[in-house]
Amino acid sequence: MIVLRDMIESDIEDYVRWFTTETEWGKEWDAPWEWEETTEEAERESWTEYYESVKDLPPEEPRKKFEIEFDGRHVGWVSRYFDLDHLENPEKIPAVGIDIAEQDARSHGVGTEALRQFIDYLKAQGATCVYTQTWSGNARMLRTAEKLGFVPYDRVKDLRTVRGQQYDALTLKLDLNEGEQT
Ligand SMILES: CC(C)(COP(=O)(O)OP(=O)(O)OC[C@H]1O[C@@H](n2cnc3c(N)ncnc32)[C@H](O)[C@@H]1OP(=O)(O)O)[C@@H](O)C(=O)NCCC(=O)NCCS
Repeated sequence: MIVLRDMIESDIEDYVRWFTTETEWGKEWDAPWEWEETTEEAERESWTEYYESVKDLPPEEPRKKFEIEFDGRHVGWVSRYFDLDHLENPEKIPAVGIDIAEQDARSHGVGTEALRQFIDYLKAQGATCVYTQTWSGNARMLRTAEKLGFVPYDRVKDLRTVRGQQYDALTLKLDLNEGEQT
């Protein structure tokens, strides 16, 4: 079962691990061009600070981020942001991001279901469309977006260099009102 939930204290140590030792999700896949090495101490401090800032949010406060639990195990997160890479966003359309840091939890449908639930949440908050951004070498993310109905919106050719190869920066868009009567 896939559940989106708020952060709990024990998640802090997962983040410390995901940002210091089990970093493949970010170093190889999320945005390898912006990965920065860090230390356990720095990550523990910043994730503890982050946890303190979100732990008492009132239930009605709109969430920017949820933790993903797969069969009771914390495996990653979803988040939304408005500051797009290389694109203006004057209408403040939310962009969704996802990372399943635990490698053995990937390619079991978790990412697609977690994003589906998060997009439903954003729709309930009033979103009429959402973006997602990735790069042309991230086949799993592209397939996930395709399964959810995202369509290509913007492409910057050869903007990203990953493992010595050039890739396009991609923005995809999902219309949430498609097929609905007005
Ligand atoms: C991208 C990510 C969120 C997708 O989540 P996931 O749980 O792996 O995705 P799903 O299992 O729901 O779907 C993945 C699809 O990609 C397919 N896939 C897996 N490896 C693939 C490959 N090398 N090439 C093409 N498709 C591939 C799977 O078969 C599946 O498609 P299917 O259902 O038609 O068989 C997850 O893999 C992840 O976190 N990766 C590392 C970090 C990352 O890239 N984050 C996104 C940053 S933009």
